Amino acid sequence: MSDSIKTIGILTSGGDAPGMNAAIRAVVRKALANGVQVRGIKRGYQGLLAEEIVDMDYHSVSDIIQRGGTILGTARCKEFTTEEGQQKGADICRKHGIDGIVVIGGDGSYRGALALSKHGINTIGLPGTIDLDIACTDYTIGFDTAVNTAMDAIDKVRDTSSSHERVSIIEVMGRNAGYLALWCGVANGAEDILIPEKYDYNEQQIINNIINNRKKGKTHHLIVNAEGIGHSTSMARRIEAATGIETRATILGYMQRGGSPTCKDRYYASIMGAYAADILCEGKTNRVVGRRDGKFLDFDIDEALAMQKDISEYEYQVSRILATYNAVGK
Ligand code: ADP
Ligand code: F6P
Repeated sequence: MSDSIKTIGILTSGGDAPGMNAAIRAVVRKALANGVQVRGIKRGYQGLLAEEIVDMDYHSVSDIIQRGGTILGTARCKEFTTEEGQQKGADICRKHGIDGIVVIGGDGSYRGALALSKHGINTIGLPGTIDLDIACTDYTIGFDTAVNTAMDAIDKVRDTSSSHERVSIIEVMGRNAGYLALWCGVANGAEDILIPEKYDYNEQQIINNIINNRKKGKTHHLIVNAEGIGHSTSMARRIEAATGIETRATILGYMQRGGSPTCKDRYYASIMGAYAADILCEGKTNRVVGRRDGKFLDFDIDEALAMQKDISEYEYQVSRILATYNAVGK
């Protein structure tokens, strides 16, 4: 452990994600076990600038591992994207005796952490987002819960869609990334999966799929559409007009961000939270924790932000083949 790290802070930033509480609990308890004090910073960088800082002990994180959301609250803070805001944030940390901070959030939150590190406050990032869109890691806190929530909801839509012999477009979150849509699309057996990384905006192809499937006797047609493509309601109107088949759009929205975390999200968030506390207490800074090839690792934040992530072409092709009746010779 580093002698210069006596007190650390913890904050959650950007969109909340199920499992953030498990990560907060692990950071607090592991740091305390390392002999380091912990302060909770409420409402992300906004709360830091407003000095909304509370002491945390072992019991502050009791009874939270099973809860969705974040007990610290979260926010998006424009002021923190400015040099003055970042300097003020670092000064406030020093004023409150905070030597380092664990930041749980996405890429935007890491940029804030990078800035704090440059201003002399040690920082460690944890990947907290339902979107799975952080390049340095195969896992992000909240994705597993969100994708299971969306999958359950889509199963329900499928029931009513089949009964009424309708086409259903279900829009899932993910900002500009298609991971939630791809995973649900495969897991729900959707007939079409539209993701921003691959979609060619060929709506006629979708219309042809619907008409062909109907001829083959399919009673439903599920289209999982990613938020990054959007426009599900107008797409439904166009598809109904072109096919003559009743078409409905369902936008799942914020329900995907809530709810009790799955075992995987609780477990990984706990291990990653402890890992973040350990490396922060060792005196490391400007690192982000990830999971790759079955191992927990940490990367330089600049390096992590420069990495590119893409949907595997093989996985995407498999998703299309499984959705389409196209046996060789038929
Ligand atoms: P996420 O962390 O989920 O990607 P955002 O992109 O909204 O979510 O970022 C969360 C917060 O991180 C922002 O509201 C802002 O306070 C901070 N942030 C984002 N970008 C920067 C930046 N370039 N410099 C400093 N702070 C940033
Ligand atoms: O990053 C998580 C996420 O839920 C995205 O999927 C979505 O685009 C965005 O946050 C919505 O953010 P807000 O809560 O600001 O509407």
